[in-house]
Order: sequence, then structure tokens, then C-alpha cells
Amino acid sequence: MGEKMRLDRLVASQIYGVSRADVKKLCLKKKISVNGRLMARSDTKVDTDDEIVVDGRRIVYKKHIYIMLNKPKGVVCSTKDGISQTVLELVPKELYREGLFPAGRLDKDTEGFVLLTDDGELAHKMLSPRSHVPKTYFVRLEKPWEQGYSDIMSKGMTISGENGGEDEKCLPAELTLSADNNCECTLTLHEGKYHQVKRMFSELGNKVVYLKRISIGDMALDENLALGECLEILHKDVESLLTPKQDKW
Ligand code: URA
Repeated sequence: MGEKMRLDRLVASQIYGVSRADVKKLCLKKKISVNGRLMARSDTKVDTDDEIVVDGRRIVYKKHIYIMLNKPKGVVCSTKDGISQTVLELVPKELYREGLFPAGRLDKDTEGFVLLTDDGELAHKMLSPRSHVPKTYFVRLEKPWEQGYSDIMSKGMTISGENGGEDEKCLPAELTLSADNNCECTLTLHEGKYHQVKRMFSELGNKVVYLKRISIGDMALDENLALGECLEILHKDVESLLTPKQDKW
């Protein structure tokens, strides 16, 4: 058994651009059936597990939606921006929902994994400073890395404050140096300070020239997902990001 809900509310919540008034009209046009029976009234209480068909399309009720986006450069992680394209503008109509937002930010010039959802509660838990969900970045540097970087970062380095602000102490982070390219590495952070990856390398006298988030928790960015593309992911997989197998902090 699912949840009891009015038919108009349920259908309007699952199909973007369809209002409750539209559901009423669809009922009058005999376009909606529940468990095989045509529905004349849109205010009928139905169960979210019922078999609901709207104009030939089966609705599988989902309370919330979770989307993996491969963000390209030049796109901003906000819901509105007068100038630049936003991550929400990349979501195809069939995945779009009212209330969708990015659960965490990447800089405009950073590529990679952004989680989009309309689940405020789960996003709040993920973004909480206490959650420590690890995030891994692929980094390309202007100058070759030095072996010593890994040690400094693993001890928890201090970075200068932004715009003359106070210095900030980072949590231990894991740096893996590429065996093939001495300007490339991957870095795993357990927090999300403003411009953190760029500031950590800048503190060591280097500069990030390309940055891509390649995983959140143990969920890797799907390698078949092209830049700008979205993939729906399951609630249970996102929930599991919050319960890591081993939490050092
Ligand atoms: N660190 C950065 O500097 N930029 C990002 O977009 C993410 C992490």
C-alpha cells in the first residue's frame, strides 16, 4: 500500500506542466484510468501504488526525483541567473519537477557530477557540514605536482581566507597523483569550502587549470553521460551516500 492522495494532486505532481485543472479536463475527456477504470472525477482519492494511466502513459509515482547531471563549463549551479545558463535549464522535460534544485554547487568553470533533486530533506542532510560525504575531483594543474602535496593534504592543510578573511583549516583530504601525467591528480574532500580545491593548490603555489567532480560518496559520474546530459538515479542510492561504510569523523 502506498499513500492516499487526490488523483489531481498526484498526476499534477508527476507530470511537469500539467495542473490540477488540466487533470479535471483530462478526466472529463475520459483520458485517465485507475486500475483499469476510467475516472470521471479528479478529486477521487487514489493510492500512489494504483495503476494510473494518463492519456495512454502509465504513471509510476515517485515522491521525489534524483538526477545525476554532468555539468559543462559555463553553466551555473543556481535555480535562476539572468545571464548564464543554469543547471536546471539542462534538465529534460520528462525529468523536470517543480522545486528542483542543485544539492551542492560547482564553480561555473568546473565540470562534472551535480546532484539535482526536489527532496529538500535529503539535500539538507547531504549539505550539512556534519555529513562529510566524500567528493572526488579530477584535477589538472598548471605546473607539475610535487610528491609532498599528498602528505600536506592528508594532514589537513590550512588555506588563506577569501578576500583577506581568516585562514581556514581543512579536514584531511586524499590526493592520488597520476602515474601517467605529472600535472594530473585526483583529490577527495570530506567537506565543501568555497573554491576549496583551487585554494588548496593555490596555497601550494600551483594553479588548477581544469576541474571535474567525478564522484559523490561511492557513486561515480556515469562515464557514458555526455557533458550537459542527465540521468535519473534511485532514491536508495542517494540515501546510501549518507550512510558511508566507514566514517572517520
Ligand atoms: N573546489 C573548487 O575550487 N571548485 C569547485 O567547483 C568545487 C570544488
